[in-house]
Amino acid sequence: MLNPVKLANKNFLSSLDISSEELFNILEIAKNFKSKDLKIKLNDKVLGLIFDKSSTRTRVSFQVAMSRLGGTTVDLNPTTSQIGRGEPIRDTARVLSKYCDVLAIRTFKQSDLEEYSKWSSKPVINALTDLEHPCQAIADYMTIKEEFVDFRNVVLTFIGDGNNVANSLILCGALLGVEVRIACPKGYEPNSLIINKANEIYKNKNLLKITNEPQAAVSGANVIYTDVWSSMGEENQKEQKDKEFKGFTIDSELLAHADKDAIVLHCLPAYRSKEITDEVFESKISRIFEQAENRMHVQQALLSCLLQ
Ligand code: CP
Ligand code: NVA
Repeated sequence: MLNPVKLANKNFLSSLDISSEELFNILEIAKNFKSKDLKIKLNDKVLGLIFDKSSTRTRVSFQVAMSRLGGTTVDLNPTTSQIGRGEPIRDTARVLSKYCDVLAIRTFKQSDLEEYSKWSSKPVINALTDLEHPCQAIADYMTIKEEFVDFRNVVLTFIGDGNNVANSLILCGALLGVEVRIACPKGYEPNSLIINKANEIYKNKNLLKITNEPQAAVSGANVIYTDVWSSMGEENQKEQKDKEFKGFTIDSELLAHADKDAIVLHCLPAYRSKEITDEVFESKISRIFEQAENRMHVQQALLSCLLQ
């Protein structure tokens, strides 16, 4: 049995804040939490949640994870706190880190998350920004490991917008040595800094492929993954994006090109008949709800490592 190891970096703002070894370790700890082989009590620790965007899974999985660890959470809804009235991040961060032992923050700009961490005396976790969703990616790779045992020879194809979820899948995929293919409409490719960073980690082994052709990207792949076409904050682009993403729906026709034992993942929430058909979403190759469950085991692992 593996015990949580303190992370070298105090914060988890990006997938790049952990090493490959730390990521493998978090996956193993999460597995031990899931199998109930690991029981850790972080009595009296408090997690502060600041969510500038909606959330079901991330918020609740953090709350339940903290409760299972014997700690508590406070949900700092921006509309009922002074955050929504414009109190500067640097003031909020200094105050809240006096009360709480760790903060999980969901916001728009990565630079705002970095500002929180700069002024917080306690660890800060990225609970989703426009740039990354690293807690999600760890749960995704946990789900993949449950299915395929090791990552060698696993090809993960993400079909959709090359933003936060795709970026974290790319970076964690590079840390784990997984071949990642991204298929997105022209103009929706992942951030070039993320691509360059991943290629550096992969040591230029050509394991990251970006294309505008979903069918080619799915060919022989083991994991087919998608996310909403219009992310939170992009509600006014919905009509335009629905048009531009036409042809990027995961349906049975597209899946016919995947490996015969392929599985389907979706970070949720899902919009049926947009990025995924109901048939595929509900099919026996879907591991979407295992993936959602794993969010909670990963949050427990992450919190145990950060609060050591
Ligand atoms: N996948 C995910 O982060 O879901 P929520 O937006 O519900 O937290
Ligand atoms: N890309 C999506 C992920 C939701 C979990 C968004 O940012 O809204």
